[in-house]
Amino acid sequence: MMSLNNKKILLGISGGIAAYKSPELVRQLIKEGASVQVAMTDAATQFVTPTTLQAVSGQPVFISQWDTRISNGMPHIELTRDVDAILIAPASADFMAKLSLGLANDLLSTLCLARGHDSNGVITPCPLLIVPAMNRQMWENIATQRSVERLLKDKIAILGPASGDQACGEVGMGRMLEPTEICEALIAFFQPKRLLGKKVLITAGPTYEAIDPVRGLTNRSSGKMGFAIARAAVEAGAQVQLISGPVHLDTPLAFLGNIQRTNVTSAQEMHDAVLTHHDSDVFFSVAAVADWRVSSMADQKIKKQSTTDIPHFDLVQNPDILLAFSSASKNKPSFCVGFAAETENTIEYGKKKLISKNTSLIIANHGPSTFGEDINEVTLIDANNELTLGPADKLVLAREIIREVSKRLPT
Ligand code: C5P
Repeated sequence: MMSLNNKKILLGISGGIAAYKSPELVRQLIKEGASVQVAMTDAATQFVTPTTLQAVSGQPVFISQWDTRISNGMPHIELTRDVDAILIAPASADFMAKLSLGLANDLLSTLCLARGHDSNGVITPCPLLIVPAMNRQMWENIATQRSVERLLKDKIAILGPASGDQACGEVGMGRMLEPTEICEALIAFFQPKRLLGKKVLITAGPTYEAIDPVRGLTNRSSGKMGFAIARAAVEAGAQVQLISGPVHLDTPLAFLGNIQRTNVTSAQEMHDAVLTHHDSDVFFSVAAVADWRVSSMADQKIKKQSTTDIPHFDLVQNPDILLAFSSASKNKPSFCVGFAAETENTIEYGKKKLISKNTSLIIANHGPSTFGEDINEVTLIDANNELTLGPADKLVLAREIIREVSKRLPT
């Protein structure tokens, strides 16, 4: 995917046991296309060696402000001028306190204070993101919370911490986010904030309509496209409500706190959950909703009889969730995006759904070639145009879909 292509990251490591995860973080950042320059505090070298970090980053590691390898003798200035962001992981309580007071008594704290990104001779502050890691008592201490307040006021982004098992054996807030999460948060940080402050509602996955306690009617949807759109919407700065049918997927970017997930099973449950969010600015109806359900579910497993005695079921139509939503939101029109997974005449059927479902946009694709896959090709159909995107990874497509939708939103 390489979502950090051409990004230069300065990774600062301060002294905490979570520093043992830093080499893995470096590897993941590099895998996403970033180049990583590591700077460490003296204390950090007690937990992880500079040699390890030099080996995984492929670059010399800096620790001291008196390092003579920088020709003008000013590593605290030179190290940040060509970077796109400084990431401090782990950020110890001591390092956060220093940062919040503007103290600068070692290389890492000094380069944070002196940080600046040089773009053609114009120097602007370089973004700084910190990932706290400490014992829960240290995190909850009023002094640390004072640092947090000051850092946020200074527009320094704080990622985490998470709650859970700690190295000291206690359990609580203060765990560093996992390297994968830190990497995803950094990727999100660099995405354009095209949906900042917008409420975005998304349905994803299949629905399951029970016939009896062990059998049911469903659809071949993995939920991957809907979850990719949810991730891209959070990356774009939206507040996301994700209503998901039964899938085996983790909630994307859950640790950032901008996504709420509701799990449902049947179309009726999905319908009811969707309509409670009728004030959403954008609705992506990505779920593959089962069109029918049996008129009454059997309480016990239906037993097989003789080979000639095959059970018959009366089917009734499920509510059309997208149509119900687009009709319910008439007073405060939401931008409604429908999906059309077809097996034939994809564009023609898509155009019909644009009208019959009362949507602003239809995204048509060929169902069987994409169900469960990571790759998709889609055609965006609105009243005036058709635009084909892909084939590409579903997350790449989701970001492009967000871009296309944001262009069409009322300003
Ligand atoms: O009618 P069809 O299922 O082909 O339409 C697909 C679009 O309508 C998708 O956006 C899907 O989420 C939505 N839909 C719905 N409720 C249904 C059936 C489909 O919201 N009962």
